[in-house]
Amino acid sequence: MTVTVTSLGEAERARLIDAAIRARASAYAKYSQFTVGAAILADDGTIYSGANVENASYGLTICAERVAVHTAVAAGQRKFVGLAVATSGGLTPCGACRQVLAEFCVELPIVLVDVDQHNSAREVQFSALLPECFRLA
Ligand code: THU
Repeated sequence: MTVTVTSLGEAERARLIDAAIRARASAYAKYSQFTVGAAILADDGTIYSGANVENASYGLTICAERVAVHTAVAAGQRKFVGLAVATSGGLTPCGACRQVLAEFCVELPIVLVDVDQHNSAREVQFSALLPECFRLA
């Protein structure tokens, strides 16, 4: 499969970063204390945010990225042009979230925001995080 790499414009990137940082404030991370904020940009310009929500039955925890993607999809969105994730350390999305993203994107610029480094951000491509991903059709 040929993957077309896209990148974000400055204004979109700034909006996404801001949304991810703000979403992180709503994280429910009672057990890990590790708060994550995510924001995904649909191709019509709408941003959907998410934060991680933990549970006393630990396996029921849902990551910020999946909250954001599922919120967007439930609102009728199917095409995405960017994702920002805000964490302490500027970490990449977990494997489960990568697979959920693969349902909707073959390529996606992902902005990783390190809240410990004055919200410094670096951009990675989805295809670099999950090459040769599993997709039906
Ligand atoms: N977490 C996310 O929200 N996104 C990821 O990509 C990895 C992990 C959350 C889940 C849990 O609430 C906490 O971070 C520690 O694993």
